[in-house]
Amino acid sequence: MIDNKTLDIQIADSVAKLNSLFGAAPAVAVVLGSGWSGAVSLVEDAKHLSYAELAAFPQPKVEGHVNEIVVGRIGAQRVVMLRGRAHTYESGNCTGMAGALRTLKRWGVKAVLQTNASGSLRSDLPPGSLMLITDHINAPQRSPLVGEPGSERFVDMSTAYDAELRANALAVAKAQGQALGEGVYIWALGPQFETPAEIRMFAAWGASAVGMSTVPETILARHCGLRVMGLALMTNMAAGLSDEALTHALTLQQAQSSAEVAAKYLAAVVASLAELPSMQ
Ligand code: HPA
Repeated sequence: MIDNKTLDIQIADSVAKLNSLFGAAPAVAVVLGSGWSGAVSLVEDAKHLSYAELAAFPQPKVEGHVNEIVVGRIGAQRVVMLRGRAHTYESGNCTGMAGALRTLKRWGVKAVLQTNASGSLRSDLPPGSLMLITDHINAPQRSPLVGEPGSERFVDMSTAYDAELRANALAVAKAQGQALGEGVYIWALGPQFETPAEIRMFAAWGASAVGMSTVPETILARHCGLRVMGLALMTNMAAGLSDEALTHALTLQQAQSSAEVAAKYLAAVVASLAELPSMQ
């Protein structure tokens, strides 16, 4: 549960700092998951700020993550990128990104593009594939909104992944000749990988990708009124769907080898938002 009073003070402090360092908020924020941080090098006029300078932001400690924001632009679109997220498996707490997301909203950000590394449940989306998230399944049935006051906590999740942003992402993929699958992302708490039996169950439920992030952030973002889009980079076939043993090192290695393609596509999506009237 979030201590809202303390968090509010941290958010106000973080927003003030962002305003004084960077001016008005970019309309677009990107949460960079494993394999996606190559996009940072495509940000022009990039300025970096450590999470340590932002009281409302988490201090995650997962290998392969740097904890900082990067503010700049891609083409005509200003953007803030978040490198590093708090995962529920680190602490058991699924509210780790609440302060960061509410800071972004209060600063003036309109949409959050979430990215992650996932295991694939579909043979037509092998490692290296990109998938646009159409919907999610909250398998642990954990909510970062437990304890929140007010009727806003009863968030409508029926259109969590913004239809207009998804249509735009598909159009960008088509224009770039970039293959882009579409499917449902299922959140597994981790940190252990799933069993083959769990993966068979998730597939029967209609999931196409499995991962250990994204869902709490989508709930938090929708709760505070941010638009959400999600992209999954498949780093492995999910448990039982290939002979390869699953390790964190393997997922990082696969993420690395797809980094350039993922970054290029993500940058094109960000740039395209400068022309979307609803994002102005
Ligand atoms: N399962 C859960 N999380 C993941 C996986 C997976 O197979 N691959 C990358 N993140």
